[in-house]
Amino acid sequence: MIYLDNHSTTPVDPAVLDVMLPLMSEQYANAGSITHEAGRRVAELVGQAVADTAALIGASADELVVTSGATESNNLALFGACLHGRQKRRKVVSVVSEHKAVLDPLSRLARHGFDVVLVPVQSNDSDLPGGVDMQRLTESVDIDTALVSVMLANNEIGTIQPLKKIAAICRAAGCLLHTDATQAVGRIPVHVDELDVDLLSFSAHKFYGPKGVGGLFVRRRDRRVRLQPQIVGGGQQNNFRSGTLNTPGIVGMHAALKRSIAAAQPERQRHANLRNRLYEALAGIDGVSLNGPLLSAMTHEGELARLPGNLNCCFFPVEGQSLMLAAPELAVSSGSACTSAEPGPSHVLQAIGLSEEQGRSSLRFGVGRFNTESEIDQAAAWIAEGMHTLKKLR
Ligand SMILES: Cc1ncc(COP(=O)(O)O)c(C=O)c1O
Repeated sequence: MIYLDNHSTTPVDPAVLDVMLPLMSEQYANAGSITHEAGRRVAELVGQAVADTAALIGASADELVVTSGATESNNLALFGACLHGRQKRRKVVSVVSEHKAVLDPLSRLARHGFDVVLVPVQSNDSDLPGGVDMQRLTESVDIDTALVSVMLANNEIGTIQPLKKIAAICRAAGCLLHTDATQAVGRIPVHVDELDVDLLSFSAHKFYGPKGVGGLFVRRRDRRVRLQPQIVGGGQQNNFRSGTLNTPGIVGMHAALKRSIAAAQPERQRHANLRNRLYEALAGIDGVSLNGPLLSAMTHEGELARLPGNLNCCFFPVEGQSLMLAAPELAVSSGSACTSAEPGPSHVLQAIGLSEEQGRSSLRFGVGRFNTESEIDQAAAWIAEGMHTLKKLR
């Protein structure tokens, strides 16, 4: 199998697994059992891992809530901030191309009586396909806005949003800013102060850590964010999120993030090279077009406009599902893995102006740490072959 679905998840790096295993075999005590030495030792280890993970994104230890992953982090951020007893504002502003782990909590907030505004994004033929419509965002955020939620990098077309500019709008309106940074953390530089965000979600399995563990940054230093806990019980993590700490997960998440950040610069270049190589091979096939920002696109501020390992192409009139069947040993995706319960065309591709048919004819590729040039060439050859066969059948 050739695995080019690294936006969906990444394999656990063997070095990360090595760090995790002792927490399952010898050091298995509950980090909450500080009545004995074994528990105290694990508590210290895990406390250090949390503090070090927080520091890697510019946060302090008491600003990081460990969760089961980005879905839970997003739920805690959105429900926690909006449903807090002292929250008087009744409006939430977000973007149409967000992940379902943001959109679905927002639908529930709308049922709770919140005014939820989803701002459109720029079309596929604009300067920044998938970039939030800043004028509409500015017009939508006002003194009744409790929270703005904008993802840092899109999981389907890789668009990187101008979070710093959005933060300035939020500061002026006195509202909170949450970002779902799940596809960004470990891949591009992420620092909570530079982005000036109040809440930031991430997930370890996107940066070669284990599944089932992630984090939510909750700002406490200069501005103190109030959150209503969503999981109550033993009062762990300052009551923000009860439940026995996932000790192997926390230690694994830290090792994975440390490794990813240390390797980030050369990895970004390598991933971009492999992704560009794949696109060059695919672009030679008649009818193939690019979804999302140009691969070389930079923002006006000279920053990357697209995640380096991300590629999304339309193979119209051939359906993405048929292409995947024609290349059974290639692991790619026809949308977001996390919305696989809904097999319809991608809401992100529709948001940038693609038709339902173009959406169904599109595939997402995510290049990662363990991909090689020969895999890229083989993947491109399988797709070219599949296109040739499927076009003949039409
Ligand atoms: C942008 C984004 N947000 C949230 C999630 C959900 O993450 P998790 O699987 O950790 O719950 C994903 C996973 O694909 C994602 O890409």
